[in-house]
Amino acid sequence: MADKTKALRHIAFIMDGNGRWAKKRLMPREYGHKVGAETFKNIVKYCRTLDIEAVTVYAFSTENWKRPEREVNAIMALFSDYLDVAIKDMMKENVRIVFLGDKSVFPNNLRKKMEQTEDESKNNKYILNVGINYGGRDEIVNAVNLCIKEGMTKITEDDITERLYTKASPMPDLIVRTGGEYRISNFLMWQSAYSELYFTDVLWPDFSSEDVDRAIEVFNSRNRRYGGV
Ligand code: IPE
Ligand code: IPE
Ligand code: MG
Repeated sequence: MADKTKALRHIAFIMDGNGRWAKKRLMPREYGHKVGAETFKNIVKYCRTLDIEAVTVYAFSTENWKRPEREVNAIMALFSDYLDVAIKDMMKENVRIVFLGDKSVFPNNLRKKMEQTEDESKNNKYILNVGINYGGRDEIVNAVNLCIKEGMTKITEDDITERLYTKASPMPDLIVRTGGEYRISNFLMWQSAYSELYFTDVLWPDFSSEDVDRAIEVFNSRNRRYGGV
């Protein structure tokens, strides 16, 4: 009998290493983001062929605003380009897109495009969460503030879970970080309590479907106990 605990419903990626990938090629960091954006589209498509219910990617953190303006602008331009074409793919692939993070910081036109894409795809079966201006701590604080706004005086774990940006998705089963750093960097702080973690030195622009297979193979060999025996 298949072991149900091993079912992979939700996979998440910390897409790290774009800058170093470009530097190795004596190219500007922005070029790494450009190639990384292509990798993102390919990996999302590949996960869809594996029939994985939810995919989450970390594209830009609440801390990434500290980067040089030129780099931030380049990432936002890539994001805007992606928004122009995303909806077509989402509808074709039956994917609902959800942007994780506080959208109020984005310029009006970008924010409207984000909301439109979310709204048009909202009845699709699979989920793609894109963390942009995303921070795990910000997400928890936001959830608590929503509880306060609703007049709650005592809150439960479920109250918070139901108000996270990821509320439409199951908890992540597997979190993959590329780029050789062994940390979470404020990603899915609440949701990762029992996620399996997989770290690889492969830089994000080089990450391939074979690398996804390798991560899932490792995931399948793990024994998830959730505190039990
Ligand atoms: C990940 O790649 C993309 C973002 C954080 C926006 P990096 O830009 O962090 O690449 P490295 O880690 O500097 O190589
Ligand atoms: C994490 O990568 C954020 C994203 C991949 C979007 P960073 O490159 O920002 O993380 P640190 O600074 O190495 O922790
Ligand atoms: Mg990095």
